[in-house]
Order: sequence, then C-alpha cells, then structure tokens
Amino acid sequence: MFKSIVTRALSLLFVYALIVACQEEKKIRINFPPTDLAKENLIPKPLKVIPTNKAFGLDRYTAIYTTPDNDGFAEVGQILADKIKKKLDLDVPVNAAGDVPIERIIYINQSDSLELNSPEAYQLYISQDSVILNSNTAEGAFRGIQTLRQIIPEESNDTLAEQRIWPIPSGKITDNPNFGFRGSMLDVARHFFSVKDVKKYIDLLAYYKINVLHLHLSDDQGWRIEIKSWPKLTEIGGSTEVGGEAGGFFTQEDYKEIVAYAAKHYMTIIPEIDMPGHTNAASVSYPFLNGNGKTPKLYEGTRVGFSTFDTKKDTVYAFIDDVVREISAITPGPYFHIGGDESHVTKKKDFIYFVEKVEKIVQKHGKRMIGWDEIASANIDSTSISQYWSNGKNADKAIKRGMKVILSPAKKTYLDMQYDTLSKHGLHWAAYIPVDSAYVWTPEEYEGIPMENILGVEAPLWSETISNIDELEYLAFPRVIGYSELSWSIEENRNWENFKVRLANQAPYLDRMDVKYYASPLIDWKKSKYTYKEIKKD
Ligand code: ACM
Repeated sequence: MFKSIVTRALSLLFVYALIVACQEEKKIRINFPPTDLAKENLIPKPLKVIPTNKAFGLDRYTAIYTTPDNDGFAEVGQILADKIKKKLDLDVPVNAAGDVPIERIIYINQSDSLELNSPEAYQLYISQDSVILNSNTAEGAFRGIQTLRQIIPEESNDTLAEQRIWPIPSGKITDNPNFGFRGSMLDVARHFFSVKDVKKYIDLLAYYKINVLHLHLSDDQGWRIEIKSWPKLTEIGGSTEVGGEAGGFFTQEDYKEIVAYAAKHYMTIIPEIDMPGHTNAASVSYPFLNGNGKTPKLYEGTRVGFSTFDTKKDTVYAFIDDVVREISAITPGPYFHIGGDESHVTKKKDFIYFVEKVEKIVQKHGKRMIGWDEIASANIDSTSISQYWSNGKNADKAIKRGMKVILSPAKKTYLDMQYDTLSKHGLHWAAYIPVDSAYVWTPEEYEGIPMENILGVEAPLWSETISNIDELEYLAFPRVIGYSELSWSIEENRNWENFKVRLANQAPYLDRMDVKYYASPLIDWKKSKYTYKEIKKD
C-alpha cells in the first residue's frame, strides 16, 4: 500500500514536471486559429463543455502517460495510441521511459475525486501543453478516450508541412452517463453473423459509448452457441437459417473471443436463449423438448409463435440447467436473458410455471434474469429485469414487482424497422422509423415508467431480412448513434436540430470504417474525403 502511494506520488510529480517543462518549451507553442471545443461534433453530447478557445497540438512530440499500478489505465492509453496510429498514421509512445523527445503530453490519470464517483464519469482538461483525462476507473478513462478520438481532427494543420500538427480545441469537458445501461441487440439466430462481424459492430458501438451487446443466440430458425453436453443443438439446430442458407454457430471458444473483445471495450455481453417459445431449432435437435404436439422440422421461414418447450417435463429443466450453466460459465457479465416472448402456443399457466422455474435456474448459476416484457406475468423476483418491447400492461406489472425495465419499445427502438416505404431491408409491423423519429422521444418519461425503474435503453436488431454486415449496417446506422445519445446524454442536452448537424459530421468516421450506413435524406451528410479503399484504417 505504502509503496503504491509512493509510486503514485512519484509518477504524479514526474507528470507535473513534464507539464511544466512543456509549458516552458515556448518555441514549439503554435498559435492555431481560434478553435471552439463547444462546436465539436461529439456524440453522445457530454454533460458539460467549457471552451477556452486555444488548441493543443497533437504531433510526433506528443506522448501518452497513464497512472501506473492501476488496473487497465495503461491498456486504455495503448488503445488511444493504437487509434491515433490508425487514424493519423502518427506514433504516440505510451509510458515511455528514458530519453524520448516530448513536448506535449496526454495524461490518463486515476483520480478519486468525488465529482468522478461513478464508474463511467471522466473529465478532460485540454490546454495548449497537456491533455489530462481524469477518471475514477479505467472504464471511465475508456469512455473519455472515445471523446478524445472524436475531437482529434482527421486533418493536420498543413501550413506546417515539415511538422504535421493536429490541433485539438482546448477547454474542459465533464461527463457522466444518464443511464448506466446503453445497449444494442444482434439477432444471430435468424441469420448467423461471424465473430468478425460482431467485433466490427462492437468497435462501432464502443466509439459511441454503448456498453451492452445482447446476443440473441437461439430461435426457431437456428441455435447458435455450442453446448458441450448437448452437441446436436448446433450440429442439427445450427445448420439452417432464414431463407435456407447454411446457418452456423459460435463454438464456446468463439463466444469467449467475443466476450473478451467486448470486455476490452468495456462492454457487457448478454447471452439470450429464447424460451419456452422460439424453440423450434432446439426441439428439432432433441425432440423430447417439444411441447407443441407436432413433429418438429427444421424451419427457414419467418413466422413466430408456433413452438414451445414442454414445460411439464423435469428433463426439459435438466436440459435448461445444462445450457444456462455452460453459457454462464463463459459469461462474466451479470445477466442471462431467457427470452420469454411470443409463446403463443404455451398455455398461460404453463408459461408462468416455466418462467418461475427458469428464474431459479438462472439465479443458481449466479446470474440476474432478463426476459422480454411477457415474463412479468410470472411471480418473479424484483431483481429480475423486464425488457419492454411491446406491451405497456406488462411494463406496469414489472414496475409493481419493483423490477427494473430496459426500454426497447419496438415502434421507437427496433433497428429492423424500415426507415420508410423505400427502405431496402427491414420490416414495418411496429412502425416506419425514420432517423428523426428514432431520436425524438424521451426515455426518461416513456409511457409513465418511473425513472427509478428504468435500467436503460437497448436497440434490438432482428435479422429476418438481413444476412450480411452491409445489410446490418444499413439498418443500424445511423439510428443506433441516436440511441447512444438518448441513453448517455441528459434531456436538456438533446436537440434534434443540433444532433442532425453532429450526425452529418460522423460521415468521415463511418466512411473510414467502411460502414454502409443509410444516408438518410433528412441529414446533410458531410462529404468525406476518404473512401475505405484509399485508407483502410480504423
Ligand atoms: C420480440 O420482438 N418478439 C421481442
């Protein structure tokens, strides 16, 4: 303990000395044209921005230092350096010892300040000589570097061709999310998406500070995760998808790779096994599970509500125990999603019995149960969570039970809803959701759900009509960027006219990332000088 205090004090002294040295190094101070931090196109909008109208010059004499001996800070510094390298082709050393020529520093600092007493809070102090990012936790630092990434300009100040400098406007940003749960869901069951696709989605979501990815891992058309004790689930149940293509599945190693990648991005993976309905693929693999009285066959269509587990058999619960145990063992996050939606051929009393039994199984394996809003009909614990997608009465029941609610109303947040009648992909059973309608609503006051019951907002992407990453991106982007702001930024800081401009300015980033977003005509997209082919960089 004493040693670590001494080390920290020494490192702070070192950094302070560096900052002072940099300030004294007058010769390299560049007077950039006035820059205004408040005019940066940040999404989500931070809590508070105070501009000081000068600039920090990022260049090859900039170095990153981080608090040592603290979990994750050095890694966050390295992530920032990697992103700067990819964006600008500029090498910025991290915690470099010895004799490196440094004129300006970015310091990522662990701070116990009370103002930062929430895991994702951070402050950025940008002056001409230093950028100081303060946060309580590495998670807060990770959110903070996303802000910094968005401020770092794509282009350098080319009046100084010899020495390229990227000016970062000075000032102070204080930030903290409105909701701790900011999510998206990806349905890998109707169509399967590869580990690579999921990782790209994680990269994009993390840039906008989304911190939850819910994976819908099973449905009538496919079972997508290896369960070692029940191998036919993927051998048989994973072999198809909507439209008759080959399907696919994640091995447990694949899933662990996704979980680890998400963790590096301070993102929680929520696994969903949808039951007792949406279970045709499981029942084809193991027919004893089936409770709808018909012989199950592989299914490649898009109807819902025809399948159910047999809720009365002990063997069904033994099966579920194995599935929940194996998946929970490789899921570090606190949640397990049991689905529970659209069980139209399960009798109401059987459904209730089922949800109550499965809740106990989920709890036995150390997880907190989430289910679609229908689960609140059962007598379940206040620690379980209801995901409101369609039925306000179910949301009321959840609130009466003291449960938390995730807001995913289909008519507002379903990413698979078409933008308008001309949309290339998607459905419209809940609504057409143009980019403005996706953004202009108030989660804090949605249908009378008390704020204290709202865990956060999640935008689900169902995949009946999309089968590759380009189609995924067409539906998710740009709307998911709006959901990031709806869940991170407070209501006073949200405004469609202002958001529209900031969204238009995401085009260079999205183009650089080769995102095939829907270029909604509601937005005056900023022309990008890049195409992905020219600059294959993250
Ligand atoms: C759902 O859209 N069936 C949750």
